Amino acid sequence: MGYQRLCLTHHDTDVAGFDFAAVLRRGDVVLLSGRLGAGKTTFVQGVARALGVAERVTSPTFTMVRPHAAHNDLGIVTVHHADVYRVTTLGEILDLDLGELVEEHGVALIEWGELAASIFGREVLTVLFGVDDDDQRSLVVDGDIDDARARALEAWAS
Ligand SMILES: Nc1ncnc2c1ncn2[C@@H]1O[C@H](COP(=O)(O)OP(=O)(O)OP(=O)(O)O)[C@@H](O)[C@H]1O
Ligand SMILES: [Mg+2]
Repeated sequence: MGYQRLCLTHHDTDVAGFDFAAVLRRGDVVLLSGRLGAGKTTFVQGVARALGVAERVTSPTFTMVRPHAAHNDLGIVTVHHADVYRVTTLGEILDLDLGELVEEHGVALIEWGELAASIFGREVLTVLFGVDDDDQRSLVVDGDIDDARARALEAWAS
């Protein structure tokens, strides 16, 4: 089923990301899917702000994955922001070693994450960005959701 939240504006999507930080724990991998311009980077910017990332978060296009230092009460010290749109082989994604990157003290948010889904031998969270019209987006969260996380997601969903 998933947890859904409507975002009527760019700002709403940023705030949806900000609020989503309350769902996150150290070690989480979040796969973000949705067409070009669906709002994935906007969402990550909100998450990063909530987790105390000071630097500007932009698309990690050429590096594919960019680590941001974070300062928060959750013990998440690094937010890894990846965009695997341009990868042509699964091997390239494997080389990024995203699962390893988040061990212990990080989280990873991966744009075009559905391209990487098959390589995670672990549970992940997914956020699907539906484009309803020019400005409206429907976000749906699914994945590895235990009771505590379900409560946090119920609060997150609108
Ligand atoms: N409700 C909305 N939420 C997010 N972005 C919106 C919304 N309405 C309009 N926009 C516009 O859509 C674009 C979203 O850009 P963003 O970079 O976040 O998308 P993206 O999914 O990361 O794209 P890409 O796949 O190219 O990385 C921005 O230009 C933004 O102004
Ligand atoms: Mg993007």
